[in-house]
Amino acid sequence: MLPAMQDFIAKMRGLYETAGDDAERFEKARPYLQELLDDPELRKRAETWPSRNDPENGHYENLLFYEDSDYGFVLNALIKEPGEGTPVHDHGEVWTVYGVLKGGETVHRYRRVSGAGGEDGLEMVGDHKVSPGYIDFVPPGEIHAEYNGPARTVGIILRSGNVGTNPQTWYDLETGERERRFGPKQVPYALD
Ligand SMILES: [Fe+2]
Repeated sequence: MLPAMQDFIAKMRGLYETAGDDAERFEKARPYLQELLDDPELRKRAETWPSRNDPENGHYENLLFYEDSDYGFVLNALIKEPGEGTPVHDHGEVWTVYGVLKGGETVHRYRRVSGAGGEDGLEMVGDHKVSPGYIDFVPPGEIHAEYNGPARTVGIILRSGNVGTNPQTWYDLETGERERRFGPKQVPYALD
């Protein structure tokens, strides 16, 4: 496996071997992900990573680089072609640290609000452009969406569990509908 990835995994396992909870571990993982994003070999490899999302049909894929058999944490990539966006979604119970490796996109964040009639809705509470080197911390249940800019964008994602088997919620802003479902399809991808 790519040395930078091997090093990252060893450090993550170290965090799990010492005391702490996911909140603490994932906060501590941010500088580790930063180091990984700076790795020239990883950046080179990312040029040829496949992207097979089909947003029109609600189909998204993550490259699955690693899933830890003891602690369950996962290392993914999400590749977006120019102009592609994600649905408004959360990650269910999964903790996430998301780093932008290449490209650039806009991240929207939402919070749940109750309308005058008692109906639930979403209010946008964040709208910011992110570029390579940016690292986002996404606790369980936080609602967000990403909208890619004019370039291909590659995100490297550390998660506390596999979103292919952990339910999450997708939100339709127009209709207010919510769908409980699994996250992106997990496609094993060797980084050797
Ligand atoms: Fe997400």
